[in-house]
Amino acid sequence: MNPAVRSGSCPPSVDFDPYSPELTEPGVWDAYAAAHAAGPAVRSERRGGFWMLTRYDDVRTALRDPQTFSSASGHRIPTDGTQRAIPIDFDPPLHTAYRRLMTGALSPARVREMKPFLERTVGDLVDRFVTAGGGDFVREVALPLPLLVLTELVGFDPTTVRQFREVTEQMWAGLADHEEEVDFTAARTRIYELMKAEIVAHRAGGRAGFVTELLDAEIDGRRLDDEEMISILATFAVAGHETTMNSASTLVHLLVTEPGQQDRLRANPELAPRYVEEMLRHRSPAQNFARRTTCPVSVGGQDIAEGEAVLLSFAAANRDPERFPDPNRFDPDRDARGHLGFGWGIHQCMGAALARSELAILLARLCAHPPIVAAGEVRWSSLQGGNHLGPTTLPVRFEPQRDEKG
Ligand code: HEM
Repeated sequence: MNPAVRSGSCPPSVDFDPYSPELTEPGVWDAYAAAHAAGPAVRSERRGGFWMLTRYDDVRTALRDPQTFSSASGHRIPTDGTQRAIPIDFDPPLHTAYRRLMTGALSPARVREMKPFLERTVGDLVDRFVTAGGGDFVREVALPLPLLVLTELVGFDPTTVRQFREVTEQMWAGLADHEEEVDFTAARTRIYELMKAEIVAHRAGGRAGFVTELLDAEIDGRRLDDEEMISILATFAVAGHETTMNSASTLVHLLVTEPGQQDRLRANPELAPRYVEEMLRHRSPAQNFARRTTCPVSVGGQDIAEGEAVLLSFAAANRDPERFPDPNRFDPDRDARGHLGFGWGIHQCMGAALARSELAILLARLCAHPPIVAAGEVRWSSLQGGNHLGPTTLPVRFEPQRDEKG
């Protein structure tokens, strides 16, 4: 599929299929640029048909208006409302209540408390990787890191985490090998089973942590049922996993493909948070999220009827030249504040503080070692679930000489 703009039609349309295997590096950025050039609200007839919003101001306005742009039909195209995840696929007031239950586990205070754990965990993973002389950064560092953090965050049993790791590794092996059909449904079912087992184990008593807090939590004067608890735990497991993994690998890919940026960071490791922020803008590891209109609305002069699926393109918005001049350039000196890498409004990422901290610690730790260089072919996923993008294989090694060469 060529995601080229179709001309001569009204409204402007693009042949954008969020699940196309062709939407990968580097062409995916041309697809967003084409959609952006076609108009603020463009139509794709793929996957049952949907609108795509491409401009920064419009995407942010939509994110601030959940009454009009509802999440209740799901965050993926097609928005059919099946398999709703808590809290992302809910509108207020239920969304507000669910989110309140989850906030404590991810508050800035909790993230500060976790910092020594994050430093130790990142340090161990990176040091082992360096001692081994490098390898596939995705498999050895980016994949296990969010799982280890998750264990600490939610208080899962190490066996659950090991099994969760097996599921994700199998899925990952399929993606890395570019197998035609990776069985996401089987993986999702397995994750749900693991979460269910955690609830049963915690209910039996004697264990502290977030799962036990959930067992005691109330919403509208009633206890959560098992389905709700499983959905919340699965959200932590899934939302925090692929996003962080892709972000970590994307940062390291940047370091090995732009040695100048790496040299600068190594000389000034305090710039790590700036690199993280600009990566979130420039690469948008979570690229598109869907909504459904609850009433007729006009976007950039384009009328959109009630009940339409709308894909909010965070990736296109983050490269809108009106908001971020010279948007295709990675520039850690720019003011990237306001980027939509973590979304905006009531659904803004709950794990943002944790992810920022984890990624900045990772960069700083890598800078404590010899320069990191590419050591083989890099492979990328295509847009997973119409949303996530990141390297699936990233072979690197460490090169003591470059610092000395100057
Ligand atoms: C760099 C890593 C991450 C990125 C780029 C990212 C990105 C996003 C984005 C763009 C959204 C908004 C979705 C929407 O508007 O529909 C979101 C929501 C969410 N994220 Fe993240 N995320 C990351 C890490 C995490 C982590 C580590 C966790 C938790 C452990 C997490 C938990 C969530 C949750 C629970 C939501 C739903 C919030 C709601 O619906 O109110 N995320 N994330």
